[in-house]
Amino acid sequence: MVKIAPSILAADFAELKSQIQLVEAAGADWIHLDIMDGHFVPNITIGPPVIKSLRKHTKLPFDTHLMIANPDAYLEIFRQAGADHLTVHYEACTHLHRTVERVHELGMKAGVSINPATPVSLLKEILPFVDLILIMSVNPGFGGQSFIQASVEKIRRTAEMIKETKPDVFLEVDGGVDDRTAEAIVRAGATVLVAGNYIFGNENVAASIATLRQKSQNNHS
Ligand code: DX5
Ligand code: ZN
Repeated sequence: MVKIAPSILAADFAELKSQIQLVEAAGADWIHLDIMDGHFVPNITIGPPVIKSLRKHTKLPFDTHLMIANPDAYLEIFRQAGADHLTVHYEACTHLHRTVERVHELGMKAGVSINPATPVSLLKEILPFVDLILIMSVNPGFGGQSFIQASVEKIRRTAEMIKETKPDVFLEVDGGVDDRTAEAIVRAGATVLVAGNYIFGNENVAASIATLRQKSQNNHS
């Protein structure tokens, strides 16, 4: 079954505890945490202390997406704060294999993400070592952007690589996921949908999760 990972970037930051509990009750599978540093991306969001405060208020895995420069310096801090999955950007890691191994040593699932302009083929050598690939379908930095249609083909090719190399790797898609784009994304082979604005920007959070669930069930092969 396709997993739904609401991104709290679009939630009310003054109400994070209740917003997380709301999506948990509505059947979300993971909580997606967008960490931005103002260097790797032109925006700043939250860091380890916020994750630590939220950790005790939900049982859901914290799917932590690091959009930061020099992630190696912070892997342990995120583990201590309560991250379960740690996804780093291909573009931010000079020694990606070392980074992924360190994430595993610390006891987390390791993810690698690529930006829209980064080719899928660059994932080939790291794929056997990861638990998750995150395809960015917008340029990272902001919620509420439009889905880049060319991502569908990238998802399809990544799904093929995963099937051939390591079929249990999660294929997560992030950016512009909503009721109009979810079907094509899942049909292309995505197994995890991240959604920020579509879920938290909707008055009925539970209904939007249910819609994503239904769109993905119809199309998951
Ligand atoms: C963008 C973040 C996303 C973002 C998605 O840089 O990585 O997780 O929250 O937001 P929506 O779903 O609104 O495009
Ligand atoms: Zn994200």
